[in-house]
Amino acid sequence: MASPRGQWSGKLGFILAAAGSAVGLGNLWKFPYITYENHGGGFVLVYIAAVALVGLPIMIAEIVLGRRGGLNPVGTFRVLAQGRPGGRLWQAVGFLGVAAGFIILSYYSVVAGWTLRYIAMAITGELGRLAADPHTLATFFGGYVGDGGAQVLGHALFMAATMGAVVFGVKGGIERVATVLMPLLFLILIGLTVYAATTDGFGEAMRFLFTPDFGALSTRSILEALGQAFFSLSLGMGAMLTYGSYMRKDDSIPVSALQVSVLDTLVGLLACVIMFSIIFTYRMDVSASAGILFTTLPTVFYQMPGGGILAAGFYILVAFAALTSTISLLEVVSSYAIDELRWTRRQATLTMGGGIFAFGVLNALSLGANAKLSTLNVFGEGKDGMFSTLDFLSANWLLPVGGLLIAVFAGWIMARRETWDEFRQGHEGGEALFTGWQVLIRFAAPLAVGAIIFSIVFLGMEYQ
Ligand code: TRP
Repeated sequence: MASPRGQWSGKLGFILAAAGSAVGLGNLWKFPYITYENHGGGFVLVYIAAVALVGLPIMIAEIVLGRRGGLNPVGTFRVLAQGRPGGRLWQAVGFLGVAAGFIILSYYSVVAGWTLRYIAMAITGELGRLAADPHTLATFFGGYVGDGGAQVLGHALFMAATMGAVVFGVKGGIERVATVLMPLLFLILIGLTVYAATTDGFGEAMRFLFTPDFGALSTRSILEALGQAFFSLSLGMGAMLTYGSYMRKDDSIPVSALQVSVLDTLVGLLACVIMFSIIFTYRMDVSASAGILFTTLPTVFYQMPGGGILAAGFYILVAFAALTSTISLLEVVSSYAIDELRWTRRQATLTMGGGIFAFGVLNALSLGANAKLSTLNVFGEGKDGMFSTLDFLSANWLLPVGGLLIAVFAGWIMARRETWDEFRQGHEGGEALFTGWQVLIRFAAPLAVGAIIFSIVFLGMEYQ
């Protein structure tokens, strides 16, 4: 049956769209930052293990569920849980995902909006003038995020671009944008990597990243690697599930999931190579890591030959990565309205996108512009403001809990013969692979994600 919901044009369509979802600010900002904090090499290996043993199995689970259910997260759980233990209660996992999509997009889009301003400033040369002195740039940045009008404008532009893609549907919008942006993203990334390879800090960066020092690892690093793998692969809220619902039956789920995971990890590693080469060349102080992408890095760019081009290229890269991620966030919410509320795609995209924009205005104003919003505090020290509160809520609660429930559902609630039937379509003869996946999804993944949640609740750890 040809699906009226839309479908990827083929294998590559899914991979580019899903890799677009996964590759985002998490890869370009968060991964280099926490890799640095965790002393490089050993952490990189642990991260790769976390992707392989926990991230990949959960991604496969999400795609299996999505393609089997053929609907948005709520509908998929409704259909698949029929007659199984828990029954209709499982829909709550879908709702959790849709809510997480709404919430994450409402603040992710604000940060994504910053890239637009930086691209414009790199092109006009203003960024170069500001970056001539690190303090000037830091002062500018503080003023910029506290400027309500500027924040709402960036957020509005980015939401408009996101809605503009989603409104054209799976093939004509989402896939088309990913097909253009992802290759460009890789081109820019490779260009910047080649540039990094010519800097003096390159050798040190490679040693730092790829010589494991396991003595520097703690239990905390391992849990952090798990949490990051989870966030970076867009797991736990039904994004991969929704994209899986548009996948053709003759595409291999395990192979596609593997390719997306490898691409995502590669982008994170290249981002590390680029940033560490530059940082080690100029012996930068990276302790002020939070603002590294928007305050430290431009300063370094402009110390190098061709700084303006480097800066423009870099922020275009970040904007592209962010856009393909915001698209998948909005698609989760829109697909819910399309399938469950029977709205047209146009209605769904404009109404939900508009709602997320309106809600996100609160986040845009919570970085200094509005005193109440900027000081609101639910989760304690260091999480001041609506923006940080929602980010904390998502990364520490919604995604891990969603991921755990998805793993339990796919591993324990679904009948083995049903998951096998979906798994094998497009991947004939994968019985051994399926058995391996079953072991990971039933035992390794719930245990690991359970450990993350345990560490958050009882050890006070944080992921963001
Ligand atoms: N993976 C994205 C990144 O690395 C962020 C993200 C987390 C995400 N969960 C998501 C994106 C769900 C889309 C959908 O930046």
